[in-house]
Amino acid sequence: MMTRLDKLISRELNISRNDAKALIKKGCVTVNGAPVTSSDFKCGDGDSVEADGKTLSKNEFVYIMMNKPAGYVSATDDKREKTVLDLLPEEMKRRGLFPAGRLDKDTTGFMLITDDGAFAHGILSPKRHVDKTYIANLDKPFDNAVKADFENGMELGNEKLLHAELRALNKDSTVAEVVLREGQYHQVKRMFKKHGITVTALKRTAIGGLSLDEKLGEGGCRYITADELEKITLQNSR
Ligand code: URA
Repeated sequence: MMTRLDKLISRELNISRNDAKALIKKGCVTVNGAPVTSSDFKCGDGDSVEADGKTLSKNEFVYIMMNKPAGYVSATDDKREKTVLDLLPEEMKRRGLFPAGRLDKDTTGFMLITDDGAFAHGILSPKRHVDKTYIANLDKPFDNAVKADFENGMELGNEKLLHAELRALNKDSTVAEVVLREGQYHQVKRMFKKHGITVTALKRTAIGGLSLDEKLGEGGCRYITADELEKITLQNSR
């Protein structure tokens, strides 16, 4: 696939299209070792692109961080509902994109959108233990018995869950951080429900070692850089 040079630089360095154009104009970008100063230059998968001496990835796939707002479903298309893909700006849309994992319609926060099926499988597989971190607002406090049940690997329905983490973020234990190593249907809500507690708001704040960019407003998205991508699979050392 051929990509415009300014688009590629903007995506890989996570800078605006205008800043990418300026960088190219200044002669800071080379393709296969030769400086290229026109932003509409087209590069292909085999080309080696450097900006300020740094080699950029070949971009076979893209990885997008979105701050999902409530009211959108995590699907590629839906007859009735608005999907997270509808929120992508035109210049980010490309064939094959899908949300890697599901957040409920009313859950907000870090949604990863990619066209890399193997990567998505890797971060979703319970065997790979990529942590997902959530902040949950609760209708009543949780106590140490709830915490122990989360941490010991809870029995839920017919299932034995992997051990999870639970810690209070406020004094009266009604705002909690939860870290899961798997993603069962409505898992956080069901884990609290077992103890008679209702989750009134839920936000995903991190996937693996990569936190949601706080600069992204609800519905905002940006490309994930190569360094950040590595953080996803580098565990939180728990
Ligand atoms: N757990 C839930 O209950 N809902 C989500 O959207 C994610 C995790």
